[in-house]
Amino acid sequence: MNKIVFEAKNIHKSYRMSKRNIVQALSGVDIEVRQGDFVAIVGPSGCGKSTLMHILGLLDRPDEGILKIDGQDLSHLKEKKAYRIRAKKIGFIFQGFNLIPTLTAFENVLLAGKYGGMKLIDRKERATELLAILGLEDRMHHKPNELSGGQQQRVAIARALVNNPSLILADEPTGELDSKTSLEIMSILKKLNKDENKTFMIVTHNLEVAKECRRIVKMEDGRIVADSMRK
Ligand SMILES: Nc1ncnc2c1ncn2[C@@H]1O[C@H](COP(=O)(O)OP(=O)(O)OP(=O)(O)O)[C@@H](O)[C@H]1O
Ligand SMILES: [Mg+2]
Repeated sequence: MNKIVFEAKNIHKSYRMSKRNIVQALSGVDIEVRQGDFVAIVGPSGCGKSTLMHILGLLDRPDEGILKIDGQDLSHLKEKKAYRIRAKKIGFIFQGFNLIPTLTAFENVLLAGKYGGMKLIDRKERATELLAILGLEDRMHHKPNELSGGQQQRVAIARALVNNPSLILADEPTGELDSKTSLEIMSILKKLNKDENKTFMIVTHNLEVAKECRRIVKMEDGRIVADSMRK
């Protein structure tokens, strides 16, 4: 079996809205992700999918529980260290692409490489290579508003990959795309999974998208209720 890249144990998270009103978003989540996994996270709206992604991606902290990336315990990290590990080891792909509008495709990818601590020459090389792999050679110097939704999401994929992260987290990556473009994006992610052994966790409402994933994790009410490999 491939090595475990990510481990979360007994993760709890609640949001206090007022003295009496506490929303329990996660109630004891355990999950292990191995290198090369291609996981879909599914479940009804409000069941805690995004909260889980934010915690796994070190964007938010659990109230309780243990998190490890590449065997390193991250449960009690200081903010600055968490930031560095996040920039290097985790790639994010969001529903709304979240590119910086004033930067070109190339510059958006370069900037993520800078945050990850790559040297300029290396990040230029890797950004060029990734944008070419994603079919954007002739769009590298365009800004996001000059690109289609599918192209913007491909730039976001390049940005997520530039630091060669251990885990790529995608929250509804195809949520704003039509079904044909959604399947194109999924086939790009699958190809990166196959050719580069990249590890993906993808939150989706879309059954067509989930069907493309090898492992399906179902959540309900802040818990994982099923975790299965597709045949
Ligand atoms: N910042 C927050 N403050 C208060 N409550 C929150 C916050 N973020 C999430 N919640 C609550 O936590 C629960 C889980 O939310 P979460 O966003 O993780 O759900 P989700 O599964 O991603 O839903 P969706 O499919 O609609 O995106 C919900 O009840 C939600 O209202
Ligand atoms: Mg969500």
